[in-house]
Amino acid sequence: MHPMIPLLGLALVVVPCLSVSNSSDSLWCQLCSCTNNGSVVDCRQAGLGSLPLPDWSNPTNFTIVIFDNNTISHVSAFPERRLNASVISFRNNAITSIENAAFKYVGGLKEIDLSYNHLSSDKFTGDIFKGSYVGGMYQPLADMEILRLSGNGLHTLDPNLFEHLPYLRVLTLDSNPFGVIDHGTLIALANIPKLEYLDLTNTKLREIPQYMLHTSMNLLVLNISYNNLEDIPSEIGYAHKLQHLVLDGNPIEEIHKSPLVPTLRRLDLSSMPKLARIFSRSLGNFTQLRELVMVNNTNLYKIDKDALVYVESAEPEIKVWPQIKKLNISDNRLAWLDPSFIGDWGKLDEVGIGRNPWVCDCENNWFLSELMPRIAQLHPEEASRLVCHDPVEMRGRSILELSQNHADMRCLDYYGNQPENDGTVILFTCIATLVVVLIIAGTLAYLRRETWNFAGGRCSYRRAGSLEAIYHH
Ligand SMILES: *[C@@H]1O[C@H](CO)[C@@H](O)[C@H](O)[C@H]1NC(C)=O
Ligand SMILES: *[C@@H]1O[C@H](CO)[C@@H](O)[C@H](O)[C@H]1NC(C)=O
Ligand SMILES: *[C@@H]1O[C@H](CO)[C@@H](O)[C@H](O)[C@H]1NC(C)=O
Ligand SMILES: *[C@@H]1O[C@H](CO)[C@@H](O)[C@H](O)[C@H]1NC(C)=O
Ligand SMILES: *[C@@H]1O[C@H](CO)[C@@H](O)[C@H](O)[C@H]1NC(C)=O
Ligand SMILES: *[C@@H]1O[C@H](CO)[C@@H](O)[C@H](O)[C@H]1NC(C)=O
Ligand SMILES: *[C@@H]1O[C@H](CO)[C@@H](O)[C@H](O)[C@H]1NC(C)=O
Ligand SMILES: *[C@@H]1O[C@H](CO)[C@@H](O)[C@H](O)[C@H]1NC(C)=O
Ligand SMILES: *[C@@H]1O[C@H](CO)[C@@H](O)[C@H](O)[C@H]1NC(C)=O
Repeated sequence: MHPMIPLLGLALVVVPCLSVSNSSDSLWCQLCSCTNNGSVVDCRQAGLGSLPLPDWSNPTNFTIVIFDNNTISHVSAFPERRLNASVISFRNNAITSIENAAFKYVGGLKEIDLSYNHLSSDKFTGDIFKGSYVGGMYQPLADMEILRLSGNGLHTLDPNLFEHLPYLRVLTLDSNPFGVIDHGTLIALANIPKLEYLDLTNTKLREIPQYMLHTSMNLLVLNISYNNLEDIPSEIGYAHKLQHLVLDGNPIEEIHKSPLVPTLRRLDLSSMPKLARIFSRSLGNFTQLRELVMVNNTNLYKIDKDALVYVESAEPEIKVWPQIKKLNISDNRLAWLDPSFIGDWGKLDEVGIGRNPWVCDCENNWFLSELMPRIAQLHPEEASRLVCHDPVEMRGRSILELSQNHADMRCLDYYGNQPENDGTVILFTCIATLVVVLIIAGTLAYLRRETWNFAGGRCSYRRAGSLEAIYHH
């Protein structure tokens, strides 16, 4: 007999024995599906119209209880000593009301997800999160760290909403119709001393109230993407520990200045169809920035020289660059980029510049010597996809090949300050030179069996008088 067979037999006997002692034969696992050895109860799309379930007879320990995608409209209080669970999720229901102290008997509850329900400001009050009444006062829900309220009908918060949730770290309020952070909401937020992550995405905000970040002492991440902000809010300057600011999808047109936030490590400025230009030194106040992601700004045509520079002293002028490690400026409308944008291109760990209409002329010549070798090293695939967009003669040429061939990109005559026939003369001279060059090149190529690189030639491009106009307006 194979030595493994008795072992296998033992396992077959032991496994069913173990599963008897799991989450018991509770109604939960009959109505819903229990997975991960019965630690996760998945009641998604189970046709549940109300809670709690009719029979809670057996006490149960679960890790995650999911009621998503049902038609629950009212949540009654969970009964005493019946359920332990770290996470309870009610996403995509029709909840309008929740009983007071509904969660006080759920042991070990860390996260409640009430996203995509019909909660409205008048019925959603702090009493819902009351704990047990001990010694003449309500105890807090001391394990609660995460509350998700995305996609409801909240336009203000009960000032006492978080009274019984003093250890909350993560709060998502995105996709609610706030419009403005009013006084009540501000007081509510000020009552979460340990808040680290606040999501106010898509809440129709035009401004950030002055002291919001002053009171949230421990905030690390603020997501205010897809609002109606027209500038980088100066109120961010009151933050104490903010590390990550997300401003994607706001109608910002130009960036001239920003508040001083020396703690900021990552800034997201993406998907802003109106953003056209980022001015010199305008982002310099984020002195410790490490990651900058500005992608999919389809009108962003210019990032000025020194946009990230902080001027430490004016006389004599001392400029300081943040030590950027990750830069992504893909999918914008950038044609030229100044090398002084980043202090040291060699120190980047991640860099994306793809899908911009880069002009292969002398202004971008530093791409070939400085930028491309770094991109080729970090992301060879992406490097090989980078091509010149202009001038017409260079369109589609691989920037990586130009770099590897040590080519020299010529200057464009884009100011059109020469008489019209100059162009013809230059063109004629060019053709003549080209013919000579071609003959020499042909001979050389024959001798060295190498292809000649045109961009290495000495010929100026044909006049492209309108390039500036194309890119700048
Ligand atoms: C189920 O429990 C057994 C024994 O405790 C363990 O070996 C196994 O990895 C668990 N399976 C899952 C999916 O958690
Ligand atoms: C124990 O959990 C498993 C799922 O891992 C389930 O199939 C089984 O029915 C449970 N046992 C009892 C007695 O409910
Ligand atoms: C919940 O866990 C605690 C200990 O952490 C335990 O005393 C209690 O019996 C558990 N409740 C249920 C319903 O299993
Ligand atoms: C739940 O877990 C706790 C501690 O981990 C244990 O004391 C209790 O008996 C468990 N309850 C059930 C019903 O398994
Ligand atoms: C739940 O509903 C949402 C919104 O209707 C849908 O996007 C999602 O796929 C559904 N999830 C499941 C598991 O059915
Ligand atoms: C900010 O919100 C957007 C939109 O909901 C989301 O895609 C992104 O992951 C969020 N970012 C962070 C850091 O939370
Ligand atoms: C930098 O921050 C300081 C202090 O908040 C402010 O006075 C200055 O205008 C800011 N500079 C820029 C270029 O944003
Ligand atoms: C790019 O931005 C546009 C708005 O200008 C938005 O509709 C689109 O979803 C964004 N694309 C990606 C991939 O984020
Ligand atoms: C930059 O962002 C684009 C999306 O616009 C993504 O496809 C690309 O992988 C990113 N590159 C890097 C280096 O992160």
